[in-house]
Amino acid sequence: MKIGVLGAGQLGRMLALAGCRLGYRFRFFDTSSDAPAAQLGELHTGSWQDVQALRRFADGLDVITYEFENVSLFAAKTCSDCAPVWPPLGALEMGQDRVKEKACFRKLDIPSAVFREAHNFEELKQATLDLGFPCVIKTTTLGYDGKGQYVLRNQNDAEAAWRALAGSGVIVEQFIAFEREISVIAVRSMAGDIAFYPIAQNEHQQGILRTSRVPTVNLSESLQAKAQDYARRILEEYRYVGVMAIELFETKGELLANETAPRVHNTGHWSIDGAITSQFENHLRAITGLALGSTDLRCPTVMHNLLGEPPAMEALAAIPGAAIHLYGKSPRPGRKIGHINLLGSSVEELAEREKILNALVVKSSS
Ligand SMILES: Nc1ncnc2c1ncn2[C@@H]1O[C@H](COP(=O)(O)OP(=O)(O)O)[C@@H](O)[C@H]1O
Ligand SMILES: [Mg+2]
Repeated sequence: MKIGVLGAGQLGRMLALAGCRLGYRFRFFDTSSDAPAAQLGELHTGSWQDVQALRRFADGLDVITYEFENVSLFAAKTCSDCAPVWPPLGALEMGQDRVKEKACFRKLDIPSAVFREAHNFEELKQATLDLGFPCVIKTTTLGYDGKGQYVLRNQNDAEAAWRALAGSGVIVEQFIAFEREISVIAVRSMAGDIAFYPIAQNEHQQGILRTSRVPTVNLSESLQAKAQDYARRILEEYRYVGVMAIELFETKGELLANETAPRVHNTGHWSIDGAITSQFENHLRAITGLALGSTDLRCPTVMHNLLGEPPAMEALAAIPGAAIHLYGKSPRPGRKIGHINLLGSSVEELAEREKILNALVVKSSS
């Protein structure tokens, strides 16, 4: 079985690491030759508009997937002439555009923050009047890791943000003073079976994910059921195949959907070591027509992203229960270059181990 992946970043790399164990072979397509997945398969490079290059890439593949939602829809469609592309292109199109995503939430009766679209400064001003301050402005497309978004506290902020984002379509959302952020990682097989990973509790700083932990403590059964039900509605709407993530805000006893990602997701990286079957393996099982593997938790787990210069390998390796994942990227300030999955036999033991990791991370970034 030869699997094509559009994008050769760390998610492609981790897909291939999981897939090699299943005997699968990989081919990647990326615009850059210096890509984290390149060591694990054949790499084709070219632009997302290059039909010939895309056809050469897709030729002879059994199935194609993508590792980030900003992969061009045109490229995915071009490839779909040669081999099946999963997850479905409709879900990709929705996940690329915050307005379409919000429209999907509304159609499926999934609550989310009130928002307005703005195409010019007058509309932005009106949006801030309708929603009040603080509010959040985001580019409609191409945003990730908090890029292309600002919290607006007053009209001056609105003017500065408009100057920074000029030319992009934007949406303005109510600022949600959430108690916490959670995510559901769900997977649907070709046969239509759906499995959910335990819900993860996530902490972001400046829009970038720092930690994801499972199990989420004190999340009521009714909210867990709601989160899973929202995910199920989206998976079924698109006759989805593969892994999907939904990020949600927990606020005042309710859940508001923030965004979806039609792919394996950073808040599911803990599953490589903390679950019976990782999100990467389950994504591959789904798109190759296999039965899904168990999503059960092995033990309490927390994932810490490594941003910028990492702590010394020797120090990381000495932390009990730490699994090290480095992506082969050169460090730059704020760049995700790897993650640590920390496991403990109890929540208490995990908390002790996390203190050691936190001290190291603080030391390396100071
Ligand atoms: N409406 C909002 N209210 C409060 N915080 C928000 C809001 N939207 C986003 N954030 C914060 O910014 C983070 C990144 O925003 P998100 O919409 O997930 O964009 P990205 O595509 O960059 O991940 C969120 O995880 C959350 O911490
Ligand atoms: Mg997000």
